[in-house]
Amino acid sequence: MTDMQPEFLRSTRTSYDAIAPAYAEAFPDWSADSAPLDRSLVAAFAELAREHAPAPVADLGSGPGSVTAHLHALGVPVFGVDLSPRMVALARRAYPDLRFHVGSMTSLDLPDETLGGIIALYSIIHVPTEHLAATFAEFHRVLAPGGHVLLAFQSGDGDDHMRLIERFGQEISLDYHWRTPETVAEALTGAGLLLHARVLREPAGEERRPRAFVLARKRP
Ligand SMILES: C[S@@+](CC[C@H](N)C(=O)[O-])C[C@H]1O[C@@H](n2cnc3c(N)ncnc32)[C@H](O)[C@@H]1O
Repeated sequence: MTDMQPEFLRSTRTSYDAIAPAYAEAFPDWSADSAPLDRSLVAAFAELAREHAPAPVADLGSGPGSVTAHLHALGVPVFGVDLSPRMVALARRAYPDLRFHVGSMTSLDLPDETLGGIIALYSIIHVPTEHLAATFAEFHRVLAPGGHVLLAFQSGDGDDHMRLIERFGQEISLDYHWRTPETVAEALTGAGLLLHARVLREPAGEERRPRAFVLARKRP
């Protein structure tokens, strides 16, 4: 990571580095903590991704690694990528048999058309809307023909934005962008991807916002 990075990447990385251990403790197991519908959408993605094996899936914004581990358990060849070196260290420690790399979804250190799929759960929320088109163009570049991308994010009306300056008792500066499935779907199709499905799930338990899932794929 160089100093040429945009400010939003630097502040996101520093913020997640600060909260990584507390975050990993608060969200130890994505699969156990998820609603059945969320798990079934990830299972559907896994089935689509397995068709491209041995081409791997990249879990972008893999955090503490439990989504990556869940996909691995579903028989998907998968590795994680995260902006925060501390998150990557925690993921490697928790899942020593899996691969995790430091990197940004906005500029992937991967050759063209090599991924069987991309999954990014609750990580595009930290990419400003003006950077979405370039990020999805990057997804399109690295996906193999026919490869799918599954995105999950908390949904918000229009283009809501929030900056958190404290979390888990740590001082941070972390921006969240809440978008509608339509806004995200439009950015995906604008990058040349074909829309496959959009799901909006009502908030459950202590969730405050609807959960959106968008599935798209690269033209075969
Ligand atoms: C809310 S956590 C979600 C973690 C995991 N996907 C999950 O659902 O449990 C967001 C993660 O995305 C990572 N992240 C944010 N922006 C990123 C970027 N541009 N590239 C890669 N990772 C990013 C953060 O470091 C953090 O680990």
